[in-house]
Amino acid sequence: MKTFDNFHVIDHPLIKHKLTLMREHSTGHKIFRELVNEISTLIAFELTRDLSVSTVDIKTPLKETTGSVVSGNEIVIVPILRAGLGMVDGIIRLIPNARVGYVGMERNEETHQPVHYYFKVPSEAERCHFIIVDPMLATGGTAIATTDSLKDYGATDIKFMCLIAAPEGVEAFCTSHPDVEVYAAALDDHLDENKYIIPGLGDAGDRLFGTK
Ligand code: URA
Repeated sequence: MKTFDNFHVIDHPLIKHKLTLMREHSTGHKIFRELVNEISTLIAFELTRDLSVSTVDIKTPLKETTGSVVSGNEIVIVPILRAGLGMVDGIIRLIPNARVGYVGMERNEETHQPVHYYFKVPSEAERCHFIIVDPMLATGGTAIATTDSLKDYGATDIKFMCLIAAPEGVEAFCTSHPDVEVYAAALDDHLDENKYIIPGLGDAGDRLFGTK
């Protein structure tokens, strides 16, 4: 695969361990859900490394000093329905003041293009740092369309977080949106004829919500 400066795989033993448990077919939805949240927390730690901080004056029990604070209020997590929902709590654990927007995408039967059937995102988009979340970056179609929608809405600062990416999805997304940094826990091998990621973990939504 061509390399892209805006694509990052977070290489960490804890992420690798948790991802291995998630991939295992016999892992049930309770544990799977916990693992999705735990990995999302770990990736969010890296993804937020360049957040800006403001300086505040504080007083410890011993001395006046200065500290740094992040404005969590300006961070908007945008799960792509439905599997993206599984990642939200893990990020909120780290950024409790973050807001949450929702984007629901479906494929138009005639044009085969993804269109959104639901779009609810906080206003003042130009002030916000958006983190789009979806566990699987497969073809990239939904992620690209969601990012297009956010940009049309006025967003200028967008990052994308997934758990597993396919080379096809990385190439499509990073070519369409070179200004959006993409963070993943793993880069897998390829897509099969049904657009599932191989080796992957199956259908992330079904595994999260126990619907199969
Ligand atoms: N969506 C999934 O849930 N799994 C895949 O492998 C690809 C897309």
